[in-house]
Amino acid sequence: MAGVEWWRSAVIYQVYPRSFADSDGDGVGDLPGITAKLAYLADLGVDAVWLSPFYRSPMVDGGYDVADYCDVDPVFGTLADFDRLLAEARTVGLKVIVDIVPNHTSDRHPWFQQSLRDRYIFSTGSDDRPPNDWQSLFGGPAWTRTTDGSWYLHLFDPGQPDLNWRNPQVRDEFDAILRFWLDRGVDGFRIDVAHGMIKAEGLPDAGGEQRLPYFDQEEVHDIYRSWRKLIDSYLGERMTVAEVFDSTPERVARYVAGDELHQAFNFDFLEAPWDPAVLRKIIDETLAAVKDVGAPATWVLSNHDRRRHVTRFGGGLVGLRRARAAALLMLGLPGSAYVYQGEELGLPEVLDLPDEVRADPQWVRSGGRELGRDGCRVPLPWEGDAPPFGFSPGGRAWLPMPREWAARTVAAQREDPDSMLNLYRKALHLRRPATEFAWRPAPDGVLCFETERFLVTANLSGSPVPLLGVPALASSPVTDELPPDTTAWIRT
Ligand code: GLC
Repeated sequence: MAGVEWWRSAVIYQVYPRSFADSDGDGVGDLPGITAKLAYLADLGVDAVWLSPFYRSPMVDGGYDVADYCDVDPVFGTLADFDRLLAEARTVGLKVIVDIVPNHTSDRHPWFQQSLRDRYIFSTGSDDRPPNDWQSLFGGPAWTRTTDGSWYLHLFDPGQPDLNWRNPQVRDEFDAILRFWLDRGVDGFRIDVAHGMIKAEGLPDAGGEQRLPYFDQEEVHDIYRSWRKLIDSYLGERMTVAEVFDSTPERVARYVAGDELHQAFNFDFLEAPWDPAVLRKIIDETLAAVKDVGAPATWVLSNHDRRRHVTRFGGGLVGLRRARAAALLMLGLPGSAYVYQGEELGLPEVLDLPDEVRADPQWVRSGGRELGRDGCRVPLPWEGDAPPFGFSPGGRAWLPMPREWAARTVAAQREDPDSMLNLYRKALHLRRPATEFAWRPAPDGVLCFETERFLVTANLSGSPVPLLGVPALASSPVTDELPPDTTAWIRT
């Protein structure tokens, strides 16, 4: 029946495989490590798991540089390990979504190795200058010169050459890749840089243009219409979620129109400061934009590319308190929500990693001017008093873990009824699909809305406000008043 598919209201938990759980002691997380923790995720109460890339890769960009889309990198395990993961997920009732990286391959991909240039974007520059002024999102020019003097495009690292999606062979190959994973039984795909695949004809300079010639081009929608047909030819409710950034809610909504993708990430919500007026505006714009196309709204606070929200919201106890309130705000909204591994533990960004352990190309290519994304990718603390806190049986982790995370381990938080972990658990078990939404009158600085499930009140003002009812759940202790930086759910 239309309108009740699981993904319309799902909470999807993002696993960054390198940093989730290590089974073999090499200090890098892997697929068997994830399988062993699926019961933890089912108990937490999420509906699905999205796995960041685990494919064969030289790991220049943590696996977002894929050399073989249909095999598992040995550091993460084998295809048989993947099948076991999927089977175990079925047993505990979780769906599994895999990450697909269609904008670029690794430069170690056989096509690039065999110099199949018509499958990439090669061009000749003039006077030793690149073909145009495009900049890599990781810093520096988006073009690298090969030994014969021609240039290839890489919107990201030079180790990630952009594919030429005007070549039908590229399209056929990705149809085959989607089928490979659908046949194995995955429930869907997260699509990396989903707005990037088509570049404007003639590769014009970006100049000061508002609309970038390498993002959000009209023809990219043809790809998704064709993918949707392919995906719909499979049984079950398979879904797709698009990573589209640098765009307005209306432009993003075009990717989730009925004959294209199912969901898109809400980066406006993720980037919002802890400010009631900004959040209210984003919630309104989000709901309005998706309503027109019949897609569910989505909400997200953190992921593997952004500074963790405990830190963004002020860090320390203030950041934690706001992160608790933000979790109940997000999970109270209608639609679907994404939880990034470790946010259920209230992990902060690790800002003081030693330079020599940083691995992110953003750090490397900016010459250390940008800290990069390693600080949100530090492995998860599971148990015990000292690093690596049960992350690896080998006693090491690919990024060092702060000693004070002893208090933030899963084992420690399980015992504490008021921990962040237990707040997420309670919220996820209480949460039910909601589609209705209406703002209710509230004092300045307070967000108050009603769905068919709850009256949700988030106090972002500096003072306590009266609470009208007994909450089923609150992010911090309440009386007949709701203190600042607190959200409460009252049953409707
Ligand atoms: C996406 C990924 C990011 C990666 C980039 C290039 O934005 O989320 O981690 O670096 O694409 O693949």
